[in-house]
Amino acid sequence: MRLWGGRFSEENDERVADFTRSIELDRELAADDIAGSIAHVRGLARAGLLTEDELGELVGGLNGLAEAVASGAIDWDPALEDVHLNLESALADRIGAIAGKLHTGRSRNDQVATDLRLWLRRAIDRLDQALLEFEGALVGLAEREGTAVLPGTTHIQPAQPVLFAHHLLAYVEMAERDRGRLADARRRANVSPLGSGALAGAGYPLDREATATELGFDGVTANSLDAVGDRDFVVEALAAIALGMVHLSRLAEEITWWSNPRFGFVSASDAFSTGSSIMPNKKNPDPAELVRGRAARVVGALTAVLTLLKGLPLGYQRDLQEDKAPLFDAVSVFEASLGVLAGMLDTLTVDRDRMRSAADEGYTTATAVADALVRRGIPFRVAHHVVGSLVMQAEEAGVGLDEVPDSMIGLALGASGDEGAKTLAAEEGIGDTLRAAASLDSALATCDVIGGTAPVRVAEALRAARRRLGDQAG
Ligand code: ARG
Repeated sequence: MRLWGGRFSEENDERVADFTRSIELDRELAADDIAGSIAHVRGLARAGLLTEDELGELVGGLNGLAEAVASGAIDWDPALEDVHLNLESALADRIGAIAGKLHTGRSRNDQVATDLRLWLRRAIDRLDQALLEFEGALVGLAEREGTAVLPGTTHIQPAQPVLFAHHLLAYVEMAERDRGRLADARRRANVSPLGSGALAGAGYPLDREATATELGFDGVTANSLDAVGDRDFVVEALAAIALGMVHLSRLAEEITWWSNPRFGFVSASDAFSTGSSIMPNKKNPDPAELVRGRAARVVGALTAVLTLLKGLPLGYQRDLQEDKAPLFDAVSVFEASLGVLAGMLDTLTVDRDRMRSAADEGYTTATAVADALVRRGIPFRVAHHVVGSLVMQAEEAGVGLDEVPDSMIGLALGASGDEGAKTLAAEEGIGDTLRAAASLDSALATCDVIGGTAPVRVAEALRAARRRLGDQAG
């Protein structure tokens, strides 16, 4: 008999039963559902609605159920629609009619909202750990390859050299913000809807705060109508996760390019690559590609839940059942993506020579040379022009900025029309000064500001990141 069958004289059409059922998915909430039920029956006893004996029987039965769930010994019955009805019915099988008192002063509407908040809390804690491990992999690689230099790009064109470690630490910053956003979402999710009933509030004098405390919530929701229909916490978590996946997708994109032989900056280990069914030569960075691909799915999950909510009147609407698939999927995709990327980073081989020679192409130290002129009193705009014309000459002659002859430097300075530049052109040693400024190492060293790529700054940032990770672990 269906638990809500009293006012029905006919069975549901099979298609309706199939269509409305959620047990395949919401059984994921079983442990949280039972924890919520245990706190709820304690609250019922405190309100004088259960005797001590009844409470003991109910808690004993629920604890037994929790063990059965943990060991996979529950037979989920599709005919029982969802996890809540399955567990209530399984409880009745175990302890008999007294199980009928469990649902006093509770609705599946405040129940599922409670379950989902409890579930999300645990999920966010796992994601936080996965983010820390991912940061650990980034920091580990940055430490191992501390001296590798990348051609930093803007517009995907060679721009300025940056330390590879600096590049990796940029992703650590993103991951730290992701952790912050998830922690923030967790804080707002961590209030108890229990006692809100179906929509109007429970019809008994339940001490909602005591129940909330028992479940580790920081407080209770303040409006029953809001509480049963609110899924802001799902949206907030999904927004944080979607952005986190976007960050991972950007890194995945870079790894796929870097491992293309044209770049040849990195090579994924065999354990983190796959082959082609037709081309024997292929070694593909599929895990990175799939992280990039699954980011799309997670962005879709956020869109799905926002769209789900936008037309809903207050109170519980059955549409809300559709919140779980996108939330569960997004959490598991993010967790798995963090794990697989961390593994890829842990086992990545870096070709420092190739990276360095690529960083040396494209006149990436031109800005540093202009800065050197500025340090000799030339206005930046003039310096920019001088170095621009030097790059043009060097390109024609097929030499690097650290190889340009004095004659070219003299020409570029002289043609600028700036008196200071002309004077400088005649100065002894100016050629050596500018050629020295054009080396990768001196260009890197000049970016010596907080957040800059100068090796001393990066070393400092790396130490800070390592310290923070150590603090988190301990
Ligand atoms: N399976 C439902 C959900 O996930 C539980 C609440 C159902 N409530 C109801 N009145 N039918 O949202």
